[in-house]
Amino acid sequence: MAVTLGPDDVERAAAALDAGRLVAFPTETVYGLGADASSPTAVRRIFEVKGRPTGHPLIVHVAEAADLGRFGRRVPDVAMDLARAFWPGPLTLIVERGDPIAIETTGGRDTVGLRVPDHPATLALLRAFGRGVAGPSANRFGSVSPTIAAHVVDDLGGHLGADDVVLDGGPCRVGLESTIVDVSGPSPTLLRPGGISAVEIEAVLGSPLLDDRGGPARASGMLASHYAPDVTVRLIEADELGTALGAAVRDTSTPRPKGSAPRPTMVGVVAPFPVEHRPSWSLPGDAASYGARLYATLRQADRCDLDLLLVVGPTRGDLRDAVLDRLVKAAAPRSR
Ligand code: TXA
Ligand code: MG
Repeated sequence: MAVTLGPDDVERAAAALDAGRLVAFPTETVYGLGADASSPTAVRRIFEVKGRPTGHPLIVHVAEAADLGRFGRRVPDVAMDLARAFWPGPLTLIVERGDPIAIETTGGRDTVGLRVPDHPATLALLRAFGRGVAGPSANRFGSVSPTIAAHVVDDLGGHLGADDVVLDGGPCRVGLESTIVDVSGPSPTLLRPGGISAVEIEAVLGSPLLDDRGGPARASGMLASHYAPDVTVRLIEADELGTALGAAVRDTSTPRPKGSAPRPTMVGVVAPFPVEHRPSWSLPGDAASYGARLYATLRQADRCDLDLLLVVGPTRGDLRDAVLDRLVKAAAPRSR
């Protein structure tokens, strides 16, 4: 079990990184599970603790936009433009990998994802540490990302060591992972929608982003089933709710122990409006506010012993694309 520190203890957290330990850290998006990005042994422990295949590249967190040139190579002007516009903030830029990044960090790739997170404690940590911090979301591979420190302890507490650290910086403001844009090729390409909308990015670029989400599974967040709670999720439109509820209650296919009395199917609902007479979570209609609460809500639903969770997405807002991306993945068939 790791030691939990407050934002005043960043020097101790930086010392832990320096000693090759793991430090879970707060960001504006979700909590990250950090290690020294230049150390193959430190980075290997991230993959072990997360249960993540070692071929999946990790994002590297850096202190300022000027670090693009330090941790990346042959960084194009368009990367600097986007960094200046959105850092610190929920945008990850894929550039050619620079020498200070261990090849284990990028799962063998010659490119690296860099970002400056927008959280005061973690910016102080990055400045105190002075090197890049590799950090995927601080959850077990494939499950829901953590948006408070307690989620990290719930998921990873049993896997972290006594010298590892959880830096508690309060709840994450955005609550959805960063937008990932690949600027290592000829045209900026969206790999994962996230906390900054494509519209905002295109306004800086002055041209449309290519969209490679349907491409080969380059980013683990691009795998069909990801961001998934334990409960079965079905994504529906608001006007399908009545029919879906009726069908779920009549469904007798749910397996139950032999000889046990049949019990009604337990169905929960997450929607941008209140639903009566069943476990339900009413989220705001605006995608940014809906997204900020989504992961904590999925974790709550997981504790309710439901057979099925029906989810209606947000009604409006630029981040609707990012929220729907996570909901589609939460609802995808599982291989776990
Ligand atoms: O908001 C975030 O991005 C959070 C916080 C902690 O910064 N991090 C995060 O990391 O979501 P993770 O590992 O859960 O997702 C990172 C995504 C993965 O889908 C990974 O495959 C992709 O970034 N990625 C990282 N480096 C890449 C590269 N060189 N090329 C393509 N995809 C890359
Ligand atoms: Mg993740």
